[in-house]
Amino acid sequence: MKFFIDTANLDQIKEAQDLGVLDGVTTNPSLMAKEGITGNDNIINHYKKICEIVTGDVSAEVISTDYEGIIKEGEELAKLHDQIIVKVPMIKDGVKAIKYFSDKGIKTNCTLVFSAGQALLAAKAGATYVSPFIGRLDDISTDGLNLIAEIRLIYDNYGFDTQILAASVRHTMHVIDCAKIGADVMTGPLSSIEGLLKHPLTDIGLAKFLADYKKGN
Ligand code: G3P
Repeated sequence: MKFFIDTANLDQIKEAQDLGVLDGVTTNPSLMAKEGITGNDNIINHYKKICEIVTGDVSAEVISTDYEGIIKEGEELAKLHDQIIVKVPMIKDGVKAIKYFSDKGIKTNCTLVFSAGQALLAAKAGATYVSPFIGRLDDISTDGLNLIAEIRLIYDNYGFDTQILAASVRHTMHVIDCAKIGADVMTGPLSSIEGLLKHPLTDIGLAKFLADYKKGN
């Protein structure tokens, strides 16, 4: 299972990278704005900075919603760095653009996916990654994890290569449940990754080992 961090915050990206378990980064326009990164030139520079920190895939989202615009933007983003994955929304022109990018060998992440049907379409178009937003489904009393399970079943039925990137992960149990279901990737905040570390018995056990060691020294 790959771990991506879902942020545009460079300090958090560095921290996750230093932990040694980071496989990539996902961003979106909201995450960029949250870090105060606005304006096309600043956003482009920020992608380059992220690519310098991590060794894995970095999703960069297009803003255009028409086919020609998505193609132009996506090709420019893809040229920035070989780690860039062009993030395209699940809309009609987006699906067409994903097919175009796929034929040209440009990697894509189909974002804003909320149903198994959308995920099937993304895979048919040749998306590298599909991003079902599980937290946002949970927010409206719909089982986000069930969507991951549905997509896993469908992709396995036909051997689709598209990787399931569980997105809108909000906490550590989402990570564990996605791993149980067989999501290929999860993207979440640093806290969702660091939460995997924690167990009180580890802390108690370590404190006792250290105390016992001191007794003999
Ligand atoms: O990866 C998608 C993500 O950025 C959305 O997360 O927490 O805004 O639903 P959230």
